[in-house]
Amino acid sequence: MIRVAIFASGTGTNALNLLRTAKNLKQLQIPLVIIDQTKSTLPDVLKKEFPEVTVAIVLAPKIQDVEERRRQHEKEIVALLTQHQIDWCFLAGYMRLLGPTLLSAFKEGTQSRIVNIHPSLLPLYPGTQAYEKVFEANDPKSGVTIHFVDEGMDTGPIIVQEVFERKLDETFEQFKERGLKLEWQTYAAILKRLHDEQTLKPRSESETRKT
Ligand code: GRF
Repeated sequence: MIRVAIFASGTGTNALNLLRTAKNLKQLQIPLVIIDQTKSTLPDVLKKEFPEVTVAIVLAPKIQDVEERRRQHEKEIVALLTQHQIDWCFLAGYMRLLGPTLLSAFKEGTQSRIVNIHPSLLPLYPGTQAYEKVFEANDPKSGVTIHFVDEGMDTGPIIVQEVFERKLDETFEQFKERGLKLEWQTYAAILKRLHDEQTLKPRSESETRKT
């Protein structure tokens, strides 16, 4: 049985979609969701739909030094992940860079077990407000990237990219809605792949050429 934890900060539509997907996977469970914000509406939704899932709100401690704050925050998170015997972490709208404390706890050799979803064709438009940046740029196509997490901002090795065309007459809201649907679909497929293959690998050279 593979045990996955989800990390979220905001609305959590990706988190909910992963939890719904996992319900149909026999050899994979999501027993833990970690949220780093008090303002997230996700805990209330989870309590109703997934009462069996532990929802941990883990706030970063109020320490000025960024590295020390991250280290202590991640130490608390790693303790929770260990307690819940978590094998893989799926970041779903988690608005925080990860540091060595968490990354090293989920890395064996070159195999990382922390993944993230980002709504652009990385390396284009990393960081926050990617939909806004893509829309303003008027690029003819955009997409969704799922990648392993390293210490950089959306810089880790890519597992998969899915493309969607830009429609010239659509509003920003319509564009983002289409993008989010593709996010849910792509992240669910990667969760299923983890279930079926017991691991995830960076994409091959031939897959890279397709986008
Ligand atoms: C998604 O667009 C995700 O790709 C990005 O943040 C957004 C979070 O949406 N990293 P939600 O919280 O999953 O609804």
